[in-house]
Amino acid sequence: MKPPIRVAIIGAGAVSDYHHVPGIRLDSRCKLVAACDADPALLERRRSEWDISKTTTDAEALCADPEVDAVVIATPNFTHKSIAIAAAKNGKHLMCEKPLGLNAGEVREMYEAARDNKVVHMTAFTYRFAPAMRYLKHLVASGALGTPRHFRSQRFLDLPETSWGWRQYKDKAGAGDLFDMTIHRIDFAADLMGPIARISGAVATYAPRDKTADGKPCPQSEVDDWSALIGEFTSGAVGVWEGTTLAKGYHLDGFGHEWAEVNGSEGSGVYRMHEPNIILLGKTGSDLKPVTVPDEFLKPAGSPRDPSQGKPATVFRYDLMWEFISAIVEGREAVPSFYDGLNAQLVADACLESHRSGRRIETTPAPK
Ligand SMILES: NC(=O)c1ccc[n+]([C@@H]2O[C@H](COP(=O)([O-])OP(=O)(O)OC[C@H]3O[C@@H](n4cnc5c(N)ncnc54)[C@H](O)[C@@H]3O)[C@@H](O)[C@H]2O)c1
Repeated sequence: MKPPIRVAIIGAGAVSDYHHVPGIRLDSRCKLVAACDADPALLERRRSEWDISKTTTDAEALCADPEVDAVVIATPNFTHKSIAIAAAKNGKHLMCEKPLGLNAGEVREMYEAARDNKVVHMTAFTYRFAPAMRYLKHLVASGALGTPRHFRSQRFLDLPETSWGWRQYKDKAGAGDLFDMTIHRIDFAADLMGPIARISGAVATYAPRDKTADGKPCPQSEVDDWSALIGEFTSGAVGVWEGTTLAKGYHLDGFGHEWAEVNGSEGSGVYRMHEPNIILLGKTGSDLKPVTVPDEFLKPAGSPRDPSQGKPATVFRYDLMWEFISAIVEGREAVPSFYDGLNAQLVADACLESHRSGRRIETTPAPK
């Protein structure tokens, strides 16, 4: 048996604890060996919570550590680029959280560094891994829904209107809901329907977020809390996306409302994140009906995860790590890669540009 892939986490905050560390624990082909965070007190906690002995506040040093094979970058958006480039130059495989950077220029540099240094690179587009999404992709690709005509996505969360911390400042986050949430839906739309050719977009901001959750004043939010796009795929199909964190009454056990559907010439298929093991399917003359996702789509092939364990809307997130480690072990590209992250970023940037200019923007995919 080969020695396990030695993984380091950079950014030991919420998403690492929720998605990545449980994913590593499930996979005997890898091992968590170190963590880096800017906050020494958090690192101290993670030493016991994550059972690790090596911690540091210096991300670039960890990227050069000969005892690390792969890194997960889960820091605030503005820090991704320099860490990813350092990791790639040191030959480390890397999974980076979305959005990969603050704009497509940054993301292109990250993609080129990873590609040119021949490391496995993966963008953490979580919802591609939801069972109903995996099954919907199969139904679209196999022609079961006929010719895809419309894509439609809604992501509505009911979040408090207090400060979002680093997420509400342009120089740290790039944009608000658009880069935080809608970018996932841009990515899975392209995965389902093929490249996005052109879009019109709009953003809006309603919540000032000038107080922290414990009532302390803070600088006001500079980013959107609603975003929308209307677009065309190169196939000739059309798409509509809407996302917001200010949809009152859409709590749904904290998971919020997510609805993404494809209407084809023969039928419709709907993915909903809060019930990810059930797809809605419908044909002409009947209503959409819930159908249980077949077993083979509940988790990636070979994964030891037991899909009957845990909350369905949480546990599919662990499959990101299975894909990352599988790509390293099998010597192939990870899916979704930094190239997919770059193309999603081009469309998200085009949404801001369209909002600024009032024009429709061409969104030709980047050269490979
Ligand atoms: N894929 C998903 O579904 C998903 C979900 C949530 C968050 N995210 C993304 O993950 C990233 C992190 O989000 P989060 O919610 O975990 O944020 P967070 O604020 O909870 O955690 C970020 C951590 O990074 C640390 N940090 C900041 N600068 C650093 C640096 N230079 N070096 C090392 N550590 C540093 C912070 O101290 C903090 O602990 C963001 O890019 C976010 O968009 C993705």
